[in-house]
Amino acid sequence: VKPVYLDYAATTPMRPEVRAAMAPFLEEVFGNPSSAHRWGRAAAAALAEARAEVAAALGARPSEIYFVRGGTESDNLALLGRCAHIRSRGGTPKLVVSAIEHHAIMDSARHAREAFSADCVVLEVPSDHPLDVEALGDEVDEDTVVSLMWVNNETGIRLPIRRAAEVVREGGGTLHSDAVQAIGKVPVDVSDTPVDLLTVTGHKIYGPKGSGLLFVRTGIDLAPLLHGGGQERALRPGTEDVAGAMGLATAVRLVVAEREEESERLRALRDALEERLRGALDGVRINGLGAPRAPHITSLGIQGVDGQALLTALDLEGVAASGGSACASGSTKGSHVIEALYGEADTRATVRFSLGRGVTPEQIERTAAVTIDVVARMRESGAPS
Ligand SMILES: Cc1ncc(COP(=O)(O)O)c(C=O)c1O
Repeated sequence: VKPVYLDYAATTPMRPEVRAAMAPFLEEVFGNPSSAHRWGRAAAAALAEARAEVAAALGARPSEIYFVRGGTESDNLALLGRCAHIRSRGGTPKLVVSAIEHHAIMDSARHAREAFSADCVVLEVPSDHPLDVEALGDEVDEDTVVSLMWVNNETGIRLPIRRAAEVVREGGGTLHSDAVQAIGKVPVDVSDTPVDLLTVTGHKIYGPKGSGLLFVRTGIDLAPLLHGGGQERALRPGTEDVAGAMGLATAVRLVVAEREEESERLRALRDALEERLRGALDGVRINGLGAPRAPHITSLGIQGVDGQALLTALDLEGVAASGGSACASGSTKGSHVIEALYGEADTRATVRFSLGRGVTPEQIERTAAVTIDVVARMRESGAPS
């Protein structure tokens, strides 16, 4: 039997359309977009085409799209670039982040505290109802940068980005949103949501690894983190990855176009998986169940088993899941997201199943059957929890 991959929130396979869009730029159209000759001009034209394609899919202007090398870099540039700018005009930056942000934000915020003497406020996020962002208004002034993720990567919890963006704008602050797990799953359109900065990465949406972008709304100034040539209007110097940009643009265009239909399909599969598991097993909590959630992730808190042993057992049975963020795997520390939602004393094992294009109803049924069997066996054998 073929193994089942349910870790699409960690990464996805490249889709054929993306590969086809990239292919010419890996060989014959290999020029440097900064070169004045025909090779360079051909590459520059492709880069402009990719920028326009991404901008159209996100509701942005092409001049507001900056290609970078992945989600981590985009998050760092948003937070640290904005803090550096605020500092350069004599302000003291203040950062407000939710407690469930990705490490790329949490660690950038920590760095900003040291490098720019930034004040830092962490917002608690409820596990069973939507985050209330009205109180944000009291926190915000023109030196404030708020970073709230559109969809959480470990649980699928959605934060109220549109309202947050309105509140932050009223206070004169800047709102960044990490939309890495949101794009293609929930509507993301910067023409109807007044975010100032937005992060997207290619490899979660069937695009190339190491591709990504930062949307920077016109009028929002950032200082660069790297220094060199003037590429990407000097905000992200370095010879551009034209093939990567073409791949990213194709990936973004396709997931945005297919979003409604694919999200409904994934939601039905996820709901079926949750229902099967909760019907057959006691002591299963769906993390973030009462909060609004994106359709492609289910995070389970399972009583009476060891998390790592459970993931290993599932893998042996041919089901690839994860304990939370892949970026933190290998670490024995618990997830800061689950701790923020359920407290330090929570002893449940966490298993994240994340769904994507290749997942079928048969695979979901098999995953449910295997999980029920493995958990029951582990509980019977009294494996330490
Ligand atoms: C929400 C979120 N932000 C940022 C990242 C980092 O993106 P990248 O792997 O492209 O650096 C990830 C990847 O796990 C993510 O899920």
